[in-house]
Amino acid sequence: MNVELYERIWMWAAAALLAVFLGVIFLMAGLHAVQPPSHIETVDPTALSSHPEFANPTATSRRDGSVVVSVVAQMFSFNPDAIEVPANRPVTFRITSADVLHGFQVVGTNANAMAVPGYVSQFTVTFREPGQYVITCNEYCGLLHHNMVGKLIVTKGAP
Ligand code: CUA
Repeated sequence: MNVELYERIWMWAAAALLAVFLGVIFLMAGLHAVQPPSHIETVDPTALSSHPEFANPTATSRRDGSVVVSVVAQMFSFNPDAIEVPANRPVTFRITSADVLHGFQVVGTNANAMAVPGYVSQFTVTFREPGQYVITCNEYCGLLHHNMVGKLIVTKGAP
C-alpha cells in the first residue's frame, strides 16, 4: 500500500500531538499531586442535623498533632466558616453536602474535592504557608453559587 508523503507526515504529526497532550496531562497530574477520589463512605444527607460528626462540623486535633476537619457544604456556605488549622501538620478534610453537589477548593493549593450529598469526601493535605486562604465552591449549585466562599486560616504551627 502506498501512502502519500504528505499524508504520512500529517499522520505522524497527529500522533505526536496526541502523545504531547497525554504527556502534559500526566506531567501536570504528577506535579500537582492530582489523585482520583479513593474514599468511599456514605452518610444520610437528610439526617446530617442529628449526625454525631456532621451536626456540629468542626476542626479537631488528634494526639499526634494532625487535624481532622469535618465540613458540611450547603447552599450557599460552608460550615464551619472560618476553618482554622495549623501549618506543617497533616490536615484531613471530611466533606459532605446537605443538599446538592458543591465544590470545595482551597485556592492556591491542590486541596480540591467535590462535596457530594450522601457521601463523605476525604483527603489529607499539609499546608506549608501560614496565612488566609479562600475556599470556593467550584461546582455550579444554584443562583448564589458565586457567593459561596469560605475562609481557611492556616496558623503558624510547630516547625
Ligand atoms: Cu456551592 Cu456552587
